[in-house]
Amino acid sequence: MSDPFWYKDAIIYEVHVRGFADSNADGIGDFPGLTEKLPYLHDLGVTCLWLLPFYPSPLRDDGYDIADYTAINPIYGTLDDFRRFVDAAHALQIRVLTELVINHTSDQHPWFLESRSSRDNPKRDWYVWREGREGDPPNNWLSVFGGAAWSLDYNTGQWYRHTYLREQPDLNWRNPELVEAMLDVVRFWMDQGVDGFRVDAAHQMMKDPEERDNPPAPDDYQRPWKDMAEYDSFIHIYDYGHPDVHEAHRRFQEVVDSYGRDAMTIGEVHLFDLPEWASYYGPELDELSMPFNFHLMASDWDPPSLRATIEAVLWHLPPGAWTNWTLGNHDEIRLATRLPKGHERLAALLLLTLPGTPFLYYGDELGMEQTLIPADRARDPWGFNVSSLGRDGARTPMQWAPGPGSGFTTPWVTPWLPLGERSDTVNVEHESGDPGSVLNMYRRLLAIRLGSPALRQGTFMADPASDEQTLAYRRETDDEGMTVVINFADVSNRVAIEHGFVVFSTLDPNREGEVTGSISLEPHEGVILSRLAPGTTGKQPPD
Ligand code: NOJ
Ligand code: CA
Repeated sequence: MSDPFWYKDAIIYEVHVRGFADSNADGIGDFPGLTEKLPYLHDLGVTCLWLLPFYPSPLRDDGYDIADYTAINPIYGTLDDFRRFVDAAHALQIRVLTELVINHTSDQHPWFLESRSSRDNPKRDWYVWREGREGDPPNNWLSVFGGAAWSLDYNTGQWYRHTYLREQPDLNWRNPELVEAMLDVVRFWMDQGVDGFRVDAAHQMMKDPEERDNPPAPDDYQRPWKDMAEYDSFIHIYDYGHPDVHEAHRRFQEVVDSYGRDAMTIGEVHLFDLPEWASYYGPELDELSMPFNFHLMASDWDPPSLRATIEAVLWHLPPGAWTNWTLGNHDEIRLATRLPKGHERLAALLLLTLPGTPFLYYGDELGMEQTLIPADRARDPWGFNVSSLGRDGARTPMQWAPGPGSGFTTPWVTPWLPLGERSDTVNVEHESGDPGSVLNMYRRLLAIRLGSPALRQGTFMADPASDEQTLAYRRETDDEGMTVVINFADVSNRVAIEHGFVVFSTLDPNREGEVTGSISLEPHEGVILSRLAPGTTGKQPPD
């Protein structure tokens, strides 16, 4: 599987071991369960998996609070189970990315237990310890999850910094020993055969060395992201992305590259200033393989806004750089709930026809919806800060079949989070039997992308048919041309298209035929047209 740019052709699927398949009837997904389900992912057309954290953890933040970087949480299996899983995935030509949570550990990590034990402990400086300001925290920085970003340790009388929960103390990336220890973690997982990493909070590891207060936000200030009232009362200048962060990523990339094995890295970089965001590729493309591209998710959901977002992202890519697209993940409200009804199909078409690696979120291929979690079953510490729909609701178990347990776990076992309300119909078994289902639409779409050089790596150009209601664009290589036309309106629409052959519709699995002059689309229907008649290959006919 040697190809340094394999990820340009990949279709990446984010999955939580915990939520996918339970093999031993404890209500929690595990590695043997995930391994068993690999053929499903292979048949779907997925070529790479990104696994959410599966390390030993008190699970205060669903595993983003790691207590041991080089082991598997026993609830998910053993290291041998993990190795078997990687081997089985590779045998199906599926690559595996794991999660590197390098900004913070759990407060139960032995490093932190040592660090907090005394002011002169050798690991004291592996975390960020400061004196308070007359009984108050050292500065005004806030935790993303609410409250101050500092907690007082009564035993040693100093404050430690935590960008997230107080149970997630920040590591000190300015300490060379800590950096080496983290590079060893990278080596450990590379030695286990992984194909790369998703780097958590990749823009937050380095903050202002002077730790200046953030300036208060003006009243009308609006972040280009979620509404987070308390957090947004400041402009986050000094607690994000100090330029030193780039050196940290270079060091990290060097280790990954030293394996000469085409591993890739994608960093969670929630920045919306495009030049700053793009700087995470590095001046020589020597930092992250890609910063995660959340711009589509932050865009308004209408054709002119989406078109502007796509063009702006592509315009800002450094020469030679490659991007990715995503519309759903474990931190967001499920696509099928967040977007207007029926638009989850348009989202799929968009993701799988743009120039950049698509990242899909497990269950979105079924149209899984956000689930309302009763308070006594909620787990996410952040949940209700983000919106009335917390993150748990997007993390419910994968739905495989009708009936109790939904094929995720044994029928009489209670799964770790409740199943979605419509799990009796929104599931793999049921949808597989319905040619018009969301699942079968995804299957057709993945197959088209995997079979089309133009859709994977062709140029991108907006088509003149684009307007307030229609998003239309062309993807082209020398030999192939594809046009994507998406009707966002709730009414049918006739769109001017010179010529092409319909090869895909989001609504009608049997739609085909030659188009000349214009095409009629149903309310929120999207299509792909090929310049070549289906079944023909080779050079396109001259215009
Ligand atoms: C970003 C992750 O996506 C999110 O789930 C997590 O809570 C924070 N980083 C903290 O690690
Ligand atoms: Ca289990």
